[in-house]
Amino acid sequence: MQVDRTIGFIGAGNMAEALLRGVFAAGVLRPTQCTVTNKSNDKRLARLARALAVRTTRDKARLMAESEVIILAVKPHDMPAVLSEIGPYATARHLIVSVAAGVPCEAIERCLGASPVVRAMPNTSTAVRASATAIASGRLAGPDHLAIVRTLFEAVGWVGVVPESMLDAVTAVSGSGPAYIYMLAEALVDSGEQAGLPRDLARALVGERVTSPGGTTMAGLEALEQGGLRAAVRAAVTRAARRARELRSAPARTPR
Ligand SMILES: NC(=O)c1ccc[n+]([C@@H]2O[C@H](COP(=O)([O-])OP(=O)(O)OC[C@H]3O[C@@H](n4cnc5c(N)ncnc54)[C@H](OP(=O)(O)O)[C@@H]3O)[C@@H](O)[C@H]2O)c1
Repeated sequence: MQVDRTIGFIGAGNMAEALLRGVFAAGVLRPTQCTVTNKSNDKRLARLARALAVRTTRDKARLMAESEVIILAVKPHDMPAVLSEIGPYATARHLIVSVAAGVPCEAIERCLGASPVVRAMPNTSTAVRASATAIASGRLAGPDHLAIVRTLFEAVGWVGVVPESMLDAVTAVSGSGPAYIYMLAEALVDSGEQAGLPRDLARALVGERVTSPGGTTMAGLEALEQGGLRAAVRAAVTRAARRARELRSAPARTPR
């Protein structure tokens, strides 16, 4: 399905690029429908313009005038600045879509007045079009608005509609979830090295950076550390390796 709206991306980072690539690959949007801005990284904006053929600007008034759907793809701590920058240009004809963790619809509505707001919580798997995205509508958003957001995010994976009160839990499970699995893989790499594997080979399995300092994922990872995940994985690998040696020295016994 195509979305026949113009879309403005505020934020041109990992999430914006993954979503842009996904919607173009799925044929949901054409590059001519999209205008992208960021804060100060000229090189990145120029690279996106070249690679994806999208329009770019640093003029938020122009972006707001040219776009019907505004995707807020900035870090939560940048949201207050962004909301005050676009506040004067936001109208009831804009649909505001925020992917920022932990910023309630109500906080966005307070700054943007008449604009309907939908929050979306995708995850890092957006980049490989295998995201699980939960979406939740604010006070002024109706079924037509949710349908637009659903179509956009279905271009990068599965979408479910939830009440906004569930979004923090969604963030903890699916937004940060892939990082927990990577941590498990990393713990396996450490343990594998301890069991005699070359570090380089093991490292190739865990090359991705998935957390921001102070973010929700980092908080979850700290809890996994405190809960002893690494030590438990190390014990599992050590025990499995020992069992393998036992089996080698007693091949006639039934493996368990
Ligand atoms: N990455 C994920 O997998 C993921 C998953 C779920 C949710 N999210 C959410 O998605 C949001 C973006 O994450 P990300 O990983 O894409 O972050 P990112 O790569 O750091 O990108 C953030 C973008 O925001 C821009 N920005 C900051 N302040 C701005 C301003 N005042 N005006 C315009 N642009 C501004 C930055 O511009 P400059 O580069 O010029 O500073 C940058 O382009 C976050 O809220 C995060 O919680 C991300």
